[in-house]
Amino acid sequence: MNPFFKTKSIEQILADADHPQYRLKRTLTAFDLTGLGIGAIIGTGIFVLIGTAIVGDANRPGSGPGIVLSFVLSGITCALAALCYAEFAAMIPVAGSAYTYSYATLGEFMAWLAGWNLILEYGVACVAVAIGWSGYFTNLLTLMGIALPQWATRAPADGGLANLPAAVIVLLVTWILVLGIKKSARTTCAIVLVKLGVILFFIATGITSVDTANWTPFAPGGIQGIGAAAALVFFAYIGFDAVSTTAEEARNPQRDLPIGILASLGICTVLYVSVAAVLTGLLPSSQIDVHAPVAEALRVAGFTWGAALVAVGAVAGITSVLVVMMLGQIRVFFAMSRDRLLGPWLSTVHPSYGTPHHATILTGVCVSILSAFIPIGEAADMTNIGTLFAFVLVCIGVIVLRKLRPDHPRPFRIPFMPIIPILGTLACLGLMAFLPAITWVRFVVWTAIGIGVYVGYGAKHSRLNNQNQPAAASAPLPESVEQS
Ligand code: ALA
Repeated sequence: MNPFFKTKSIEQILADADHPQYRLKRTLTAFDLTGLGIGAIIGTGIFVLIGTAIVGDANRPGSGPGIVLSFVLSGITCALAALCYAEFAAMIPVAGSAYTYSYATLGEFMAWLAGWNLILEYGVACVAVAIGWSGYFTNLLTLMGIALPQWATRAPADGGLANLPAAVIVLLVTWILVLGIKKSARTTCAIVLVKLGVILFFIATGITSVDTANWTPFAPGGIQGIGAAAALVFFAYIGFDAVSTTAEEARNPQRDLPIGILASLGICTVLYVSVAAVLTGLLPSSQIDVHAPVAEALRVAGFTWGAALVAVGAVAGITSVLVVMMLGQIRVFFAMSRDRLLGPWLSTVHPSYGTPHHATILTGVCVSILSAFIPIGEAADMTNIGTLFAFVLVCIGVIVLRKLRPDHPRPFRIPFMPIIPILGTLACLGLMAFLPAITWVRFVVWTAIGIGVYVGYGAKHSRLNNQNQPAAASAPLPESVEQS
């Protein structure tokens, strides 16, 4: 069989992950997974990108108050994809997400493309997340009377020289991850509570000053504006699939993964729509800030202390998303390196810290440089196109696997097959169509580079194509990369 289409059997995937030497501890419950999902989801999207989506930028028209519909459209798209993730995650409860699922269904080449796009989903997402962090950090300092110069806090395209706070926070997180300081379950829980608290606080405080006149005109950019905003704020939902990447650590993955994925997504959708309605009711859409929109709207409405509170919560919350996304990227490198589609040096573990320092430093340095120099919208657009593509592969994969392995036990079955994955595929392609043309050009270039790397390296070294390669080549996921 052509190695491009060779699939890795589910049994082999499960066996690889179940090797006693490499098995991860199963400790996470449905509650933990929902918390983990919310921890990964709520961040730059709702705190920052919502501003650009409402106002628009050089690459897209704004949605105005119609942003409420954009969040609903994006949320529905994610829910359809989430159901597909849930069926896969319950059936193949191992790390690797879309990459692993594609390996089991669509063959090695598509798995490679999924993995290559997960680098956009996690690695490039870190860039947008770090820029969002910088927006709130700068806003917080301004509220405290400390004004950083614009040249040091904006990318060249935004009228600055470099976004230094964004670059620095990434290096700090990288340093912490190299040292291997584990986030405790308690810290994760505290951060999730802070995020939820800040969002609920914004809704409760803001709603008292909503002027419904601000909701008209509802859609100044028409359908195009609402669609373009939906494609941008899709970013705000990314992270629910991070729950599926922890499948190897779930106590009862069959039951808890679907609950964790769907519950975190549902809770976030309700919160996002509420924030969007209040934000656009607080002031005319054209006056909404694009760097720290949520805090700034409260300040303009007269709640200066409330704005400071939101800014503190956003800085803390976005930091946790940055950590989760960086870990996500390291896990993807790990899974691909474990299969030898990427070099084994990416899964080398530091002799004394026990952390995958190469993968961590590579991720950190690239993300830091990019976050200093590119505008947030462009980073988010690239993340979104790559993630939507990976979602399409997952939606198609679930149909393929029902055909290839109809009898394999499916603890969670998508209802209304194959309508849901077909609608999921169409919805993802629909959102992709609303992304700017330049993003498509970059995506094609990125994919071409990916194909080059696969043909030049992955196809030759892949463990699947070199079955006699010793199993010991498989690397355990170090403790430091596990969720706790
Ligand atoms: N959904 C995450 C965020 O908005 C990536 O920051």
